[in-house]
Amino acid sequence: MEIKIVLIGSGAREDALARRLKESDGRIIAIMTNDNPSIRSLSDKVYFATETDVEMILDIIREESPDLVYVSPDSFLETPIVDKLEYSKIKVASPSSRAFKVESSKIYMRQLMKRYGIVGNIKFEVFDSEYEVGKYLDDMTKEFAIKPAGLTGGKGVKLTDAHFNNREEAKEYAFSIIRNDKKVLIEEKVEGEEFSLQAYTDGTNLLFTPVAQDYKRLMEGDQGPNTGGMGSITDRNGSLPFLRQESVDKAKEILNKFVKSLYDDGALYRGVIYGQFMQTKKDIKVIEINGRLADPEGINIMTLLDGDACELLMAVANAELAGKKFIFRRQASVVKYIVPKGYGYEPQKTTLKINRENMPEDVKIFYGSVSGSLDEVETTHSRALAMYAEGDNIWDASEKIEANLWRISGEYEMRHDIGSKKLVAKKVENAIL
Ligand code: AMP
Ligand code: GLY
Repeated sequence: MEIKIVLIGSGAREDALARRLKESDGRIIAIMTNDNPSIRSLSDKVYFATETDVEMILDIIREESPDLVYVSPDSFLETPIVDKLEYSKIKVASPSSRAFKVESSKIYMRQLMKRYGIVGNIKFEVFDSEYEVGKYLDDMTKEFAIKPAGLTGGKGVKLTDAHFNNREEAKEYAFSIIRNDKKVLIEEKVEGEEFSLQAYTDGTNLLFTPVAQDYKRLMEGDQGPNTGGMGSITDRNGSLPFLRQESVDKAKEILNKFVKSLYDDGALYRGVIYGQFMQTKKDIKVIEINGRLADPEGINIMTLLDGDACELLMAVANAELAGKKFIFRRQASVVKYIVPKGYGYEPQKTTLKINRENMPEDVKIFYGSVSGSLDEVETTHSRALAMYAEGDNIWDASEKIEANLWRISGEYEMRHDIGSKKLVAKKVENAIL
């Protein structure tokens, strides 16, 4: 579908989306934070802005007068950009800041679940007093998660058993969140296998995409601190080998209920809604709800989309998803992120060279928080390149990435184990099917 689209965002997830929009005859006007060489090469025009440049971004959009606007990253979705466009004729395929509250306030999300009886909630408490939270944590006999309510790029959540040496350290972390944000969220820790389910929604209808799993921990074997996500997998049947069918069905039901409850709560939801779920021994729990494509899991599903990405986003914006068929190719896929050395602690900016000669069809390199050219990039402190491959099964795709790593030269870190036969087998063994 030949449309002019303003795309806000400049990571690997937006690169994956931009490639599909371009293949679908979209004319892209990019608004980027870093000079992403791939998005630049796909765009008719590029502008630079950060999430603090709201008025400038609105001026660009009015000036460009596109058919559609897609605001991708969380930091921009929290601003009033989409809200202000709702008062114009310009179509938007992203949620308003009111609807995005489901991600930007974890407290709102938990309370919404409670008020509307959405299943899968976790026992939680909100504190605004250091004394009260200290007392609560002293009395707590179970393990728990300590979370700031707002956006933290996946790095603000800490678990008592994994991230602290003792209860005092955990309390100190909770106190520091109260000092910063005035409130802290404490959740009971749940255990099981995590999965991500993303859906496009026009406010009423949901188009579910293949289930994915994100590898958040920095180090192999799921060790170390949480990151924005080091890689992700999907399988050819749209589920994952360690998931029960009823877990996936329940997750779909929960996302449907979220979209409906948000509407009843005064916020029409349009765009991508993405739930992070945990399959426990008995049922599934909601870990987090996000108002955007996942990164990296969004890379998997955009690349697997077998159809016109411009048409899909237009259907979302125009409330016309009903009856539309969009299919995802039945292939397994893996993403592994290449990150600067020291990522997660003290990242070192560096230069990476990329050899793109005779790239196989089923292997792709997406450009993340980098600038430079397609053959040589300067990294920032964030995730640099997303290596993507497809295969008949997950480990096949994982091995294809390994076989193409010679293409990248420079100093970097990554998790090689994502999608490996050993790791997938371990998860199947751990899952209580
Ligand atoms: P979030 O940013 O809320 O998705 O949390 C980041 C990661 O922390 C999740 O992907 C989980 O691995 C973990 N996590 C968050 N909340 C909980 C919880 N209540 N129980 C167990 N793990 C959690
Ligand atoms: N996959 C983690 C995130 O997008 O928040």
